[in-house]
Amino acid sequence: MLDKKEIVKFLKETDKSKNSELFNRAREIKHQLCDKDVYIRGLVEISNYCRKDCYYCGIRKSNKNVNRYLMSEDEIINTAKWAYDNGYKSLVLQSGERIDDTFIQFVEDVLKKIRQFSNNGIHVTISFGEQTEETYQRWYEAGAHRYLLRVETSNRELYKKLHPEDHTFENRINALNLIKETGYQLGTGVMIGLPHQTYEDLADDIIFFRDIDVDMVGMGPYLPHKDAALEDSVYNLPTDKEELLTLSLKMIALTRICLPDINIASTTALQAIKSFGREQGILAGANVFMPNISEGEYRPNYQLYDNKPCIDDSSDECMECAGKRIEMIGEEIRYDVWGDSQHFLKKKKDG
Ligand code: 5AD
Ligand code: FES
Repeated sequence: MLDKKEIVKFLKETDKSKNSELFNRAREIKHQLCDKDVYIRGLVEISNYCRKDCYYCGIRKSNKNVNRYLMSEDEIINTAKWAYDNGYKSLVLQSGERIDDTFIQFVEDVLKKIRQFSNNGIHVTISFGEQTEETYQRWYEAGAHRYLLRVETSNRELYKKLHPEDHTFENRINALNLIKETGYQLGTGVMIGLPHQTYEDLADDIIFFRDIDVDMVGMGPYLPHKDAALEDSVYNLPTDKEELLTLSLKMIALTRICLPDINIASTTALQAIKSFGREQGILAGANVFMPNISEGEYRPNYQLYDNKPCIDDSSDECMECAGKRIEMIGEEIRYDVWGDSQHFLKKKKDG
């Protein structure tokens, strides 16, 4: 584990060859963990309804320019079956946050059906925001294995600036602890390059990942959305796209170095900056790739930020494209494994 000072030094480094060394070191650690393997998850954005109003987010409740949708149970199950038939053994179901009984029951039914048709052959990650302990429990028992809930930033004051008053940092931390205690593999993450955010904040984010004992991390650059409400012009971190990408890749590399046995996703937001961004994420130490397998008609409605890639592509296209992209950089996509977090499996074994 590097200390905060060392992490900050790496984040600020502008020497290209030193940065390449950092990426190579992280990639070597990734190779020790899982060789050339890149675990794949089919990502299904099941709904863009959201009860929350995070200032940065394109599908926030107050954005009236969004066509709201909820995929039907049949549509979700058919997408999951398509994935299963195409060899996927891992899915991510994501949506905006809803806490009403109808939605809770809906998700529970969907999870049970996926478990049933696949004969427990698919490991499902869910990402449905902050819920009660009881709901986490119900969904876990219905077959979800992993839960993603980004902390967005580990700086309490910055968290306040990004959210309305009633979205509290305490609730977010409580939710993360409940998820872990329920038995899920816990995933979290942050946005990089937020207004007011500093290099020290980013270093604290990595220390936060360690302290909360995460099993999975997914993070990416902050990208403005035209209808979002984060109208702040105070930036301490680079806003230039190339520099922001490099900074995001460094966050991946440093997280890999500090937490060698967790799963780290190379996220879509990296590709929104540069078409090769997600491949670069893998080269900087990430080991998870999550191509979008949502139905085409819904894709334009799940824009968390502007210029989200793959909106016009089909699931087949994204699948083929993912394979080629990973092969091109000399790594190998693994459809045939669940790709659970080794950090989690070790913890479980050690009791
Ligand atoms: N830029 C980058 N990432 C964003 N997210 C939401 N809005 C944006 C944005 N404007 C991320 C948040 C959220 C995840 C689903 O998407 O980190 O947790
Ligand atoms: Fe949907 Fe924040 S706007 S969770």
